[in-house]
Amino acid sequence: MELIHAIAAMQAVADAARDKGKRLGLVPTMGALHRGHLALVREAKKKADHVTVSIFVNPTQFAPGEDYEEYPRTLEADVEALESIGGVDVVFAPSAEEMYPFGLPPFATVGVRDLGRHLCGAFREGHFEGVTSVVTRLFLACRPDIAVFGQKDAQQLAILKRMTAELGFGIEIIRHPIVREEDGLAISSRNRYLNPAERKQAPVLSQAVRSVSKQVETGERDVAALIDAMQQIVASAPLARLQYAEIVDAENLQPVETLQPGRYLAALAVFFDGTRLIDNTTLEIAQ
Ligand code: PAF
Repeated sequence: MELIHAIAAMQAVADAARDKGKRLGLVPTMGALHRGHLALVREAKKKADHVTVSIFVNPTQFAPGEDYEEYPRTLEADVEALESIGGVDVVFAPSAEEMYPFGLPPFATVGVRDLGRHLCGAFREGHFEGVTSVVTRLFLACRPDIAVFGQKDAQQLAILKRMTAELGFGIEIIRHPIVREEDGLAISSRNRYLNPAERKQAPVLSQAVRSVSKQVETGERDVAALIDAMQQIVASAPLARLQYAEIVDAENLQPVETLQPGRYLAALAVFFDGTRLIDNTTLEIAQ
């Protein structure tokens, strides 16, 4: 496994692998790797025969006051974790200067318009433009045929799918289901910030989205009633503070009032003190 820091070196390795007829896979991460990331890597290994994992804590996707400075940076442990599962060819770990050579904020960004208006986008100013802008740079550096992203960041995934299609990158975006702890909590690098009492209550997020799925299965179609149920479940955890609970169309990410045949996303964000957790589920309504 090679550790590469420079874009030019990354491009050369990617081109050499492609010249040998290999299908290139990329798993973009911000490091602090956990079981969820390793599941994405395993998925990439199934779909590609040359796998790059990028590790870069991207400054442009953190709003002022968010946890950019505190975000865990554990490159050595991350490299070890990737070595231990095997099958990763390259770890691409650029510096901020390498990714943004003209400084911050960058001139070249990718806008997200309406897709960033609801859900997390309503509360994290500039976050998704930061994500699209860095993922574009990662695609240009790593030149993958496929890229794997987790469904936990459902809005990010929908935006990146749309961006990739609209800009004609020719990269297949692969969605990996949410990986959960035994009690249902979606695995996240931020779970490590929770104290024991908060950790105990954190499964309210998954309980809320599971309850929506169940109610939809039994015929509920009224979005206000479904959102109310999510809010009540979160309110049952005294340490939890709901930021939002929403149901949107899964493609255009706009709110809906009733569920017609189609695909929707029920999603929520909850604070435990300063730690912000998210979860979601896809709702499929058949014709
Ligand atoms: O999901 C993440 O870890 C980040 O948003 C990503 C896609 C690596 C971009 O920095």
